[in-house]
Amino acid sequence: MKDHPILKAARGEKTDYTPIWIMRQAGRYSERYRKIRAQAGSFMELCKNPKLAAEVTLIPIEEIGIDAAILFSDILVPLEKMGIDVSFVEGKGPILEPKAEKLEDVEKLKIPEPEKDLPYVLETIQLIKKRLTDRPLIGFSGAPFTLASYMLEGGSSKNYIAAKSTMWNEPELWDALMSKLAETVIEYLSSQIKAGVDLIQIFDSWMGVLSKDDYEKFVFPYTERIVNELKKRYPEIPIIHFGVNAGHLLEVNNRLSVDVIGLDWKTEIPFALERIDKSIQGNLDPVTLFADEKIIEERVRKILIEGLKARGHIFNLGHGILPPTDPKKAKFLVDTVHKVSKELRG
Ligand code: CP3
Repeated sequence: MKDHPILKAARGEKTDYTPIWIMRQAGRYSERYRKIRAQAGSFMELCKNPKLAAEVTLIPIEEIGIDAAILFSDILVPLEKMGIDVSFVEGKGPILEPKAEKLEDVEKLKIPEPEKDLPYVLETIQLIKKRLTDRPLIGFSGAPFTLASYMLEGGSSKNYIAAKSTMWNEPELWDALMSKLAETVIEYLSSQIKAGVDLIQIFDSWMGVLSKDDYEKFVFPYTERIVNELKKRYPEIPIIHFGVNAGHLLEVNNRLSVDVIGLDWKTEIPFALERIDKSIQGNLDPVTLFADEKIIEERVRKILIEGLKARGHIFNLGHGILPPTDPKKAKFLVDTVHKVSKELRG
């Protein structure tokens, strides 16, 4: 397993082809996913059902021949065990209650003990690892800022008014919340690694809404704490750090001891490579999968050529695959990445 192309690319070693996985690869674009989800009841119930969650995790391995599996769960799952109600309302996205608005709310939040509080996640990993022996399994967590923004906003947000104003106006609450989240993420990811995941991705999806100064001062130190602690505990496990619209934060994030930086499609690879010396992941616009195959192949080729200049390259979309995507196009993408990247290496 140590020599799988995804792990080699993460470490910056040469590979025979460019490996690929896709964010949200086990999602609603797949008919089998939709069937299993209906069987489970709600999305949260599916996340807490190890047998079905493992089944769903393996769908893209079987259906589109992807190079790695990603644990089927959600970044909001551990928040429930901190003492927050999390629900998903059809068409509205996640709803979180109560919001972490006062210092006493934050003081009441618990740091989950994964083995005791989140056993279904660890059991899912063990079930997947039993069945998936030839490819890596990716574990993941949200990063403190993205999690804090859901907790403070009570759900998805457009302008992040609650998150940013708390960050500026209530430094004590902010530090208490971000520290608690950092601790939660360290223990959560450690437990996933102990259960068997081969690499991890830290999703700081919304960090790009912050200015560089704010990010550096109010967010970076907590992510750095997580990365340093994980690297101390598990130096051999590669870490991917990802966020959307975060080109202006590349130089700052290059200081993290992560192995791979995930790029969205607006952050062009040559621009990124002038600013970072890590391996890269990305970065095809998810909407490209609605274009004709010829256009998909052209775009893929461009990214693969640019990616050859990076320390290592893991192909991915620049954000999650969209629910209306035709699964045949997802399969075409995987095949094209494999074919063209082999060709380019001669
Ligand atoms: O990538 C994978 O296939 C693994 C599973 C995974 C999901 N969510 C499944 C999911 C992962 C890694 C996530 C991460 C996640 N969740 C992020 C970070 C990645 C990103 O998108 O930037 C965020 C911000 C969330 C929070 C979240 N979860 C939102 C905002 C939503 C609703 C969005 C929507 O399209 O309705 C979810 C729900 C969710 N998470 C679904 C899936 C497959 C859809 C659930 C369903 O209706 O079946």
